[in-house]
Amino acid sequence: MAPGMARFTGKVALITGGAGGIGRAAAVRFASEGARVVLVDLAATNLRQSVAAVEKVDGEVLAVEADVTRMADVEKYAEAAVKRFGGVDVFFNNAGVLGALKPLVDYPEETFDRVIAVNVKAVWLGMKVVTPLLRARGGGAIVNTASIAGLRGSPNIIAYTASKHAVVGMTRAASLELARHSIRVNAVCPAPIETPMARELDAAINRERLTATIPMRRYGAPEEVAALVAFLASPDATYITGGIYTVDGGAMA
Ligand SMILES: NC(=O)c1ccc[n+]([C@@H]2O[C@H](COP(=O)([O-])OP(=O)(O)OC[C@H]3O[C@@H](n4cnc5c(N)ncnc54)[C@H](O)[C@@H]3O)[C@@H](O)[C@H]2O)c1
Repeated sequence: MAPGMARFTGKVALITGGAGGIGRAAAVRFASEGARVVLVDLAATNLRQSVAAVEKVDGEVLAVEADVTRMADVEKYAEAAVKRFGGVDVFFNNAGVLGALKPLVDYPEETFDRVIAVNVKAVWLGMKVVTPLLRARGGGAIVNTASIAGLRGSPNIIAYTASKHAVVGMTRAASLELARHSIRVNAVCPAPIETPMARELDAAINRERLTATIPMRRYGAPEEVAALVAFLASPDATYITGGIYTVDGGAMA
């Protein structure tokens, strides 16, 4: 850890999608800056790898297997965080799925419903259950993961596009409701990031053509998203709420 970088000493960071690329990088970043970390995900094997990554930087970590779309599971991960670490200060509401890559006329209805359940309903459920925990600590920070697909249209990912626009809207609405409780709510909007989700994308689209739309001519690294998330959750961002931040190599410029 760089000197002066322990922005989260004594804090607890709860991260959904903690087994995934961005969630794991964020977990390592928060732990490196002093936070105790709770990782939530469905994917048990990958979750264990994330725990190992946090332990490698001497972080204290709890993993909870949970489906973020189910209220009972959301309550379970929140309760586990309180039981183990006494509360929550930072909520990185990040689990998400890409869904199908198909024209809207061919898009399967059950996939549409699943994408909305994970990327929209679960983001709300997380904020609904975790907000009282943040209030109990006298305030805190929520960072929701949207996407550049939440800021513009993208062909062949109709449900994902709808869901990430919804994350942007929920972030703004939540920031207005929660400002008076000293809870800041912001969203990050990554371009393609080198994670398992980007590999799903690569399987269906022409990576070179997509890369050519990014001024920096590359996908991002999960650590580059984690750095923004950590900033937004930190005491360096105390006047920042309701903000929608791109981390996209210039794609939205
Ligand atoms: N990788 C990209 O190119 C990119 C770009 C923009 C936004 N995002 C967003 O970033 C977030 C993190 O994605 P990532 O890139 O790390 O992908 P990832 O696939 O590596 O991670 C997503 C994680 O969410 C978990 N998850 C999915 N459904 C779940 C559920 N119902 N309950 C619990 N966990 C569940 C998965 O198991 C997985 O570990 C997502 O919200 C994604 O939409 C990713």
